Amino acid sequence: MKLIVTKDYEALSTRAAGLVIEHIQQYPSSVLVLATGNTPLGMFARLVNAYRRGEVSFHNCSLVELDDYFNISLDDRRSLYKWLAAEFINQVDIPAENIVRFNTASTDAKEECARVEQAIANLGGIDLLVLGLGPNGHLGFNEPGSDFESATRVITLSAASIKSSAQYWGKEEDVPRQGITLGLKILSAARHTLLLVGGKQKTQIFNSTFQGPVTNSIPATILQQQQNLTVIVDKAAAGNISTRSA
Ligand code: F6R
Repeated sequence: MKLIVTKDYEALSTRAAGLVIEHIQQYPSSVLVLATGNTPLGMFARLVNAYRRGEVSFHNCSLVELDDYFNISLDDRRSLYKWLAAEFINQVDIPAENIVRFNTASTDAKEECARVEQAIANLGGIDLLVLGLGPNGHLGFNEPGSDFESATRVITLSAASIKSSAQYWGKEEDVPRQGITLGLKILSAARHTLLLVGGKQKTQIFNSTFQGPVTNSIPATILQQQQNLTVIVDKAAAGNISTRSA
């Protein structure tokens, strides 16, 4: 694992965008899986700017959704896909046919999960996975208690995740109760992973993720075993963990 501690969120975002661009320059046909949420917003803004300046093209990349709410219409304002589309997809040159989106309105959850897993298999697996860290240690919507071998599936959101997602949608009642997420098994097979952690509200969970035992009560601890993992954390979130590479 490589750990990069940055002085602040801006530097974290710049570093993250730089690593994604380097990755795509090296592997132009990358299969990308990119978290939504607040943490990657600065990275997305920088990627869009770099694309506009002609420094990077996503034309040959594919993109698979990491997670979304489930049992909501495709047009629902809370769709995480719509979030990703607004912040990134619609502003760069990824062809629509290279995008794998969850059908959040599917009436057959099992079939929908199998379809997305098959799409990833057909693409040859995930090349670059960019993750945020849930306040309760969730990855995507893999909530505490998720099996490390878990497949892509529909889950019921934990109370902690509903609470933290309320910041995006107004109040807790506005947060959908179900999610659909790539499973931990498929995430752990990614060839390169970038975890972004920012802000002092993440210090404690960041510490437990990398300094405590590997346990599915904190799903993110699975990352201690992840191949080719780079963690970018700002000083506020890093607490007393200083820069080191291993
Ligand atoms: C969103 C996702 C979530 C977030 C996590 C952190 O697609 O997968 O696991 O990465 O909840 O969210 P922020 O960055 O808003 O703190």
